Amino acid sequence: MPQKLYIETVGCQMNVLDSELVVGSLRRQGFELTHEAEAADVILFNTCSVRQHAEDKIYSSLGRLRGHKKRHPDKIIGVLGCMAQKDQELIRRRAPHVDIICGTGQLARLPQLIDDAKATGKLQLALSLDRTESRHDVERSFESYDPMRDPSMRPTPFQAFVRVMIGCDKFCTYCIVPSVRGPEQSRHPEHIAREVAQLAGEGCKEITLLGQTVNSYKYDLGDGRRFRLSDLLTRIHDTSGIERIKFITNFPKDMTDDLLEAVRDLPKVCPYLHVPAQSGCNDVLRSMKRLYTVEFYKDMLARSREIVPDVAISSDFIVGFSGETEESFEKTCDLVRESAFKNSFIFKYSPRPGTKGHDLFADDVPEETKKRRNNDLLAIQTAVSLQDHLRFIGRRVEVLVEGLSKFGERTSHSGPRQLTGRTRTDHIAVFDGNPRLIGQTFEVEVTEASPFTLFGTVVSGEQVGLDNLGETWDKQRIALPLLAH
Ligand code: SAH
Ligand code: SF4
Ligand code: F3S
Repeated sequence: MPQKLYIETVGCQMNVLDSELVVGSLRRQGFELTHEAEAADVILFNTCSVRQHAEDKIYSSLGRLRGHKKRHPDKIIGVLGCMAQKDQELIRRRAPHVDIICGTGQLARLPQLIDDAKATGKLQLALSLDRTESRHDVERSFESYDPMRDPSMRPTPFQAFVRVMIGCDKFCTYCIVPSVRGPEQSRHPEHIAREVAQLAGEGCKEITLLGQTVNSYKYDLGDGRRFRLSDLLTRIHDTSGIERIKFITNFPKDMTDDLLEAVRDLPKVCPYLHVPAQSGCNDVLRSMKRLYTVEFYKDMLARSREIVPDVAISSDFIVGFSGETEESFEKTCDLVRESAFKNSFIFKYSPRPGTKGHDLFADDVPEETKKRRNNDLLAIQTAVSLQDHLRFIGRRVEVLVEGLSKFGERTSHSGPRQLTGRTRTDHIAVFDGNPRLIGQTFEVEVTEASPFTLFGTVVSGEQVGLDNLGETWDKQRIALPLLAH
C-alpha cells in the first residue's frame, strides 16, 4: 500500500512552488496525495509568517490534529517553510505533537526527515542557521531541488512558476521575509533556461518567474558580463511551446528602462507589472525603508506606461503602519485614485517580532482604524478597478483558458459551461465554452465588466480548430452572450 501524503499551503507563490517540489520529491518515494488530513500517513503544513493571521491559521490546524496524533502515534506531522524557520521553539511548545520542523532552505531533506522521524519517534529539526549560510550550499540545494517538478501540483498543468532568485536584501521595516528566506541570491541563467525548456516539454505554456524583488535579478557570469532580468527574459523568450512569460514581484526602485523595453519588445512577455507601492506618504515610506518617494513611484508608473503601451499595473498597500496619520492615509487614497491600478492587495499592518518595525516603532494605529482604512482604500481601489475593466468593453482580448469558473463548476451538463482564464494583462475573463478549451488560448470579445472580471464571448476558433472538438461541442453556443455573472 502506498503511503498517503496531505499537504496544506499558505503564503505567497514561493510557497506554492515549494509545495509542488515537496510533492514531487515525495511521490518519487512512493507517496500518493490525499485531500483528507485524517487519511494521510504524513501531514505537512507549508507555512507563512508575513502576517499574524497566517500563523494563527496554522496553529489552529495543528491544534485540531492533537487528538488524532494521540490516537495514531505513527502518523507524521510536519511544519515546513517560513514559520518553521522563524519559530521552532514556539512550535515545539504550542504543538508538541509535531514530528518535523523544516525551514525554507532545507526542504530537499524532507524524505530523509520523514524516515528518521518514523524510525526514532523523535522531533526532526532542519533549519538554515543564519542568513550568511554559505552561498554555495544554498545554490546547490536549489539546483538539485528545483528541477524536480510535479505537474499535478501546479496551479494548472499548463502554467508553472520558476524561481529565478531566492531571499531578499531590502529589509523593509515591517517585513519578516528577509529573515525567513535569507539573503538575495539569483540563479544561473542557464539553469533557469533549462528548467523552462523542461516545463515547456511537459506541455507548459505560461511561465511565471518568481522572486521577492524579481526585477533586482542579477547574475555575474564571471567574465565581466552581468545578466539582468531583461537579459534573462530575452534568453528564455524563444523556448518553443512557451506562449506567455510573466514575472512577480517588482521592487519600484529597480524598474529600469531595459526591463520595460524588454516587456515592450518581447511578444511573449506579458504587459503586466505587479509593483507594490505600500503607501502614498513619504513619511511612511521612509519609516518603512522603501528607498523611494511617492514622486519617484509616480514617475516610475508614467515611465512604465510610456514605454509599454497598454501595460496593466497592480500594487500592494499596507494600512495602519506605525505613525500613519489620517493625513498620511489620505495621501495613500490619493495615490490609489490617481494611479489606475488594475487591482491592489490591501493589508492591515501586522507587527512581526524580529523586524525593525516591531522592535523600534509602536503599533500605534488602533485595530478599528486599520479596519476602516482598509475598507475605505478597498472601496477606492474597487472604483478604480471598475474603470480599468470597463475600458475593455467592445475590445478583443487573448485569453488562456484556465478552467471552469466557480459557476461553471456547479453545472454538470456536457455542453458549453462557464470557463475562466486570464488575458495577457492578467485580467480575469469568464465566458461560455466547451471544457475541452481548457489549456488553449482564445480571442474573447468583452461584452461586460465588473471591478474584478471581464465577461465575454469567444470570437475565434482557429487556434484550437473548433471543428475537431467533437459532437458535444455546440458551435452555435460560442457566440451567445454570457449567462451568469
Ligand atoms: N516581496 C514582495 C512581497 C512581500 S510580502 C514585495 O516586496 O513587494 C507581500 C505583501 O505583504 C507586501 O507587499 C506587503 O504589502 C504585505 N506585508 C508584508 N509584511 C507585512 C506586515 N508585517 N503586515 C501587513 N502586511 C505586510
Ligand atoms: Fe519584504 Fe520589502 Fe523584501 Fe518585499 S522587498 S520581501 S516587502 S523586505
Ligand atoms: Fe509568507 Fe514566506 Fe512568502 S513569509 S509571503 S510564505 S516568503
